Amino acid sequence: MTRDYDGLADIYDLWSDADPSATPSATFYVERMLRERGHRVELGVGTGRIAIPVLRRGGALTGVDSSPAMLDACRRKAVRAGVSGALELIRQDVRDLDLPAPAELIIFPFRSLGHLLEQADKAACFRSVYANLVPGGRFIFDHYVWNEDWARAHDGVMRPMVDQQHGQHRLIIQDEYHYRYDEQRMDCAVHIQLVDGPSSEVVVDRVETFEFSWFDVDDARAWATSAGFDVEALHGGFESAEPFGPDATDQVWTLRKPVKAWV
Ligand SMILES: C[S@@+](CC[C@H](N)C(=O)[O-])C[C@H]1O[C@@H](n2cnc3c(N)ncnc32)[C@H](O)[C@@H]1O
Repeated sequence: MTRDYDGLADIYDLWSDADPSATPSATFYVERMLRERGHRVELGVGTGRIAIPVLRRGGALTGVDSSPAMLDACRRKAVRAGVSGALELIRQDVRDLDLPAPAELIIFPFRSLGHLLEQADKAACFRSVYANLVPGGRFIFDHYVWNEDWARAHDGVMRPMVDQQHGQHRLIIQDEYHYRYDEQRMDCAVHIQLVDGPSSEVVVDRVETFEFSWFDVDDARAWATSAGFDVEALHGGFESAEPFGPDATDQVWTLRKPVKAWV
């Protein structure tokens, strides 16, 4: 089970907020979760960036993650928000889910499927989600549309993400991606520095690394249909009216387990 995110838990909210798709993706998933009256599950729940705003508006949900540190951060935030009683957190791997009850809606937001590196891992995730949905249940996930020009322009370049004052300390977060184009993989490094203002001493200086993979719509469609899903919708961005097309920046999938499911 991956623990890659353990080292990112303390800076995840600040770091992910700097991503331009953080707000549109959160708005989209919060709204979709609020529409659902049945059992709702967020895979890769992380620090509760989506789950906690949902719970603030009512109901209950289950959050799944493989990282103990991300789950701890989520638990603490839920307590502070006064919603911990409505949040069930489970440490499981999305490739081998065993939810306490089948779900009406399972989401896997913010390109998280890319953390499953091999094709076989992604296919296993689709089968596992399918097995844990009620007939007629939905699986919603997203990924970006691969943009090779962007990748080549940013390959190996340190990208400033956060530069903020926290009391007398300055927090600097930068990330750096190295692409392996033929393998559809990238090595990601997140550089975290905390600098003491008065002395300029660097009191924290660490690098967290993980691997990521990307895929296109044909891959996703193949994993979805071979697991047994119907494709209900494929949008090209988080404004749900945008259909997927040549200008799409994201692939936003809504899959449905058939009501009469044979497997
Ligand atoms: C990009 S973060 C997304 C967090 C949250 N959903 C959000 O939108 O901010 C990806 C999350 O997926 C989790 N994750 C990665 N691989 C996983 C796996 N195989 N099983 C369960 N969780 C996994 C990571 O630990 C991390 O918390």
